[in-house]
Amino acid sequence: MELKDKIDRNKLPQHVAVIMDGNGRWAKKKGNQRIFGHQNGVKAVRETVEAAAELGIKFLTLYAFSTENWKRPQNEVNALMHLLISTLNTEIKTLQDNNVRLLAIGDLDSLPANVHKQLNNTIELTASNTGLSLVLALSYSGRWELLHAIKNIVQLACEGKITPEQLNDETFYQYMQSSFMPYPELLIRTSGEYRISNFLLWQIAYTELYFTPILWPDFRKEHFFEAILDFQKRERRFGKTSDQLVSEVTPNANNNS
Ligand code: FPP
Repeated sequence: MELKDKIDRNKLPQHVAVIMDGNGRWAKKKGNQRIFGHQNGVKAVRETVEAAAELGIKFLTLYAFSTENWKRPQNEVNALMHLLISTLNTEIKTLQDNNVRLLAIGDLDSLPANVHKQLNNTIELTASNTGLSLVLALSYSGRWELLHAIKNIVQLACEGKITPEQLNDETFYQYMQSSFMPYPELLIRTSGEYRISNFLLWQIAYTELYFTPILWPDFRKEHFFEAILDFQKRERRFGKTSDQLVSEVTPNANNNS
């Protein structure tokens, strides 16, 4: 039986987020420049998108470039921007073939104009696709997103359009850029690092975390399916006890209500 067939299609996470890490180390191990790792990471992106689409997952968010990544050497930043443009261009067919809609979160205005243009172009071309929503986090950080939401709320409060009483977990999320998607149920990080690195900070409060030593350029569909299978074994308690969960699924036989 193939790994994919072991997956329970009724227990799929709706939203999977991925921290794609290890490109630089992968390239170094092969005696190459860091950008060689990023270039080879594109195949892993394609495989992951295809795997998520095949399973029928609704949202896949990939951490492609963080706010902090701007601090990398200029030649690496330039090469990554270049790679983004060329990948968005060459992968349009993969997106269309798999009925994938592209979206983006982050400080998109800070991207070079040609990246922004290619991104918008791909977003428009795939806008009517109804399968997986692939969300690229670009010039993104969780703190940036939170601050952005808070600034909007403070502005509205100054204009008398919102009061503190109107804010709760749900209404606050509506002010965040990624409120169009549910919170991720599974977060995968490659390369054996055990960090969140400023990704989706508000959203991951109850997300299941999955760490794998595989370096991103080596990540394939089978690794994605392994992560989903691992997720399906977890007991998600959301602060409740294990016994409470059992009684919710199997109501007391004497309870006639
Ligand atoms: C982290 O590895 C990876 C990145 C910062 C960039 C990810 C980009 C790609 C996979 C290329 C194309 C992506 C898309 C979505 C078109 P690292 O450089 O931090 O690796 P290291 O930790 O080994 O140094």
